Amino acid sequence: MDASSDAIAYDLLAWYDVHARALPWRARPGEPSPDPYRVWLSEVMLQQTTVAAVKDYFAEFTRRWPTIEALAAAADEDVMAAWAGLGYYARARNLLACAREVALRGGRFPEAENDLRTLPGLGPYTAAAISAIAFGQRAVVVDANVERVIARLFALDEPLPGGRAVIRARADAVTPKARCGDFAQAMMDLGATVCTSRSPRCLVCPISAFCRARSEGEPECFPVKPPKKARPARRGRAFWIEREDHVWLVRRLGTSMLGGMRALPDDGWSARADGSGSRPLAGPWTVGGRVNHIFTHFSLELNLAVYLGQDWASLNPGDGEWWPLDRLDEAGLPTLFAKAARLALAKAGD
Ligand code: ADE
Repeated sequence: MDASSDAIAYDLLAWYDVHARALPWRARPGEPSPDPYRVWLSEVMLQQTTVAAVKDYFAEFTRRWPTIEALAAAADEDVMAAWAGLGYYARARNLLACAREVALRGGRFPEAENDLRTLPGLGPYTAAAISAIAFGQRAVVVDANVERVIARLFALDEPLPGGRAVIRARADAVTPKARCGDFAQAMMDLGATVCTSRSPRCLVCPISAFCRARSEGEPECFPVKPPKKARPARRGRAFWIEREDHVWLVRRLGTSMLGGMRALPDDGWSARADGSGSRPLAGPWTVGGRVNHIFTHFSLELNLAVYLGQDWASLNPGDGEWWPLDRLDEAGLPTLFAKAARLALAKAGD
């Protein structure tokens, strides 16, 4: 580390000692490392999701499953339902697979980044974050917030994603040996609260004196993003089949989108194709309305069809279950289907 790298880490840590966000999975600055189970759980939840969205889920998960052993012993459907609404459901499947793997290995997470990488769902970012935050190991932790801080600090103008290698090398150069977990979280907090995408608050930034983007006058221009790809617009149908205060819910298959989650039956739409239009019952169907939903890689217009008939014989009992309407909020429907269900119930109440 050269002198200015030392000074950057020093000033940033001094700022963190005063301004660290108090978060339920954290130790206070300078205190012993927090429980690795809580660090791991929070990091998996925080992938692609904001701190504000994660807090309630974290509280509920740690209340129901306070240890890795407890989570490893949980039923798949309980964990999937508890995850409902957080999105990116592959994370929940990996969460369980990882908990079970760690429980099999005696309930202790490995400490080194490379060993953590062998666990289900742990990519380079998460492995580095856990190694640094839970075990105090030196690891270079780069998420989107850190990426922005580093790109600005050194005015790195190679567009993402190609520019990531240089950003990582610079992040490595400023990462100290000691207090590595605090340093990583200080960078994240700086990115989330001061060095924000739009209108960064350079006047209160503890490392603005080192920032090239600031001295060049346009910090908002970093990191340079690639041109946005258009999101394909897909269409599909979902089916509301009601019988004596119950609705027919299916469980989505394996590793497909929203796989493992309870859902309304649908016509097989995906990121790559519209739904086929095929229906689970012959009909008659009535129009139940429309839900628009944005996924990361596509947008979906989901048209809801409602079955008002009395002939349910062609529904295969192995595919689903009749779920009581007054307990629908316990079904763990992902947001898309929860929106469709609200629409159907509002129509019925009209
Ligand atoms: N985002 C991801 N991990 C985080 C952490 N440990 N603290 C704050 N924001 C985060």
